[in-house]
Amino acid sequence: MTRPLRVAIAGLGTVGGGVANVLLTRGAELAERAGRPLECIMVSARERTKKRAADVSSIAWADDVVSLAKSDADVVVELIGGEDGPARALVQSSLEAGKHVVTANKALLAYHGAQLAALAEERGVALRFEAAAAGGIPIVRALRESLIAYGIGAVRGILNGTCNFILTQMEASGRPFAEVLAEAQALGYAEADPTLDIGGGDTAHKLALLASLAFGIKPDLSNMTIQGIAHITPEDIAFAREFGCRIKLLGIARQTPHGIDQRVQPAMVKLGTPLADIEGAFNVVVADAGEAGPFFFEGRGAGEAPTASAVVADLVDIARGAVGPTFGRPARNLKSGNPAPANSRRSAFYLRFDVLDVPGVLAEIASRLAEGGVSIESMIQRGRAPGEPVAIVMVTHECSETGVAGALKVIVRSDKVLGDPCMIPMEAG
Ligand code: HSE
Repeated sequence: MTRPLRVAIAGLGTVGGGVANVLLTRGAELAERAGRPLECIMVSARERTKKRAADVSSIAWADDVVSLAKSDADVVVELIGGEDGPARALVQSSLEAGKHVVTANKALLAYHGAQLAALAEERGVALRFEAAAAGGIPIVRALRESLIAYGIGAVRGILNGTCNFILTQMEASGRPFAEVLAEAQALGYAEADPTLDIGGGDTAHKLALLASLAFGIKPDLSNMTIQGIAHITPEDIAFAREFGCRIKLLGIARQTPHGIDQRVQPAMVKLGTPLADIEGAFNVVVADAGEAGPFFFEGRGAGEAPTASAVVADLVDIARGAVGPTFGRPARNLKSGNPAPANSRRSAFYLRFDVLDVPGVLAEIASRLAEGGVSIESMIQRGRAPGEPVAIVMVTHECSETGVAGALKVIVRSDKVLGDPCMIPMEAG
């Protein structure tokens, strides 16, 4: 058998521990598949003495995580996280030193992916990131290698398990967002600082990578609309049911005649479709692969085993000698931007207004929407409470997003309208 692939792991949290465990306990099978052994020669993490699931006592330890770039490893596995700091320093210096890199770091690649890919290609090494988007789901490989014959028209998905767990729990229990978020934190789904998850940033990082693979563009957060789920109420979720829908936080990257539309936002999707029916902390990705049709990928997008599984798959590929371009095309060919302008976006919309139940309020809302070219398809106003707040909920016909947004800006100034209206696009599942 040929020389072992020497692996160094930076970061021994849930995922790093999982990768170490797989390398230590499943070595024979991996060696058979890879054609050579995968040997973990060095590890590094913040605390050496921390109690861990993986027994790494037989593996050399480095106090300085960035020093792994100078080790004898052939490949450095970066599982530290964060778009800058030690993670970026380690990946940069490992590539410069001619080492392959495997990372689960979506933030790093969303910000610096194009530059790091160029560096990897210049040095003739691999920079692989299957674990960075949708955890264990092999969507990176699918977009990079498997679904390329007819081009990709769109990639849409639920890419954040924390948000999907929260929305699922809100629907099941009728409880408000803040209460369910606290439960998600107690269960360990949401981070102590859940901003990246619930604000849509984590989904955006992953979407930027998938869009790059799909459309040959540099990962690009600057042209992405990013909205989270904190404004979604149990009432919105209940009204969605009445329209035969669920509210899901979607990442959408779509080739349109006007350019590439990239956005992260809550959307209404019809029950009975793959995007609507995925529950709990699972992820799903729908890839429209031209004449080859849509493909659906569903599974665990986070956690020890799913994420370690994706990292190990990349390691085995590297052991076999796969050193293709990071984003599926040479980094120098990745294009910048080509974003679809906001005024080209069209969709039907769910709109909720909290209003005072007084004569004329509905007429006022309807005429402002009509002025913005927005036609109403259906409407619900439940209960009657003269002079008291009530919700008016509408679904529009397909119309321009900027038309609706402009009308809402006027409507919100009415003294009969309380708080900000809620505007959610309807999206095919
Ligand atoms: N926090 C993410 C999620 C997993 O909830 O899906 C890591 O990106």
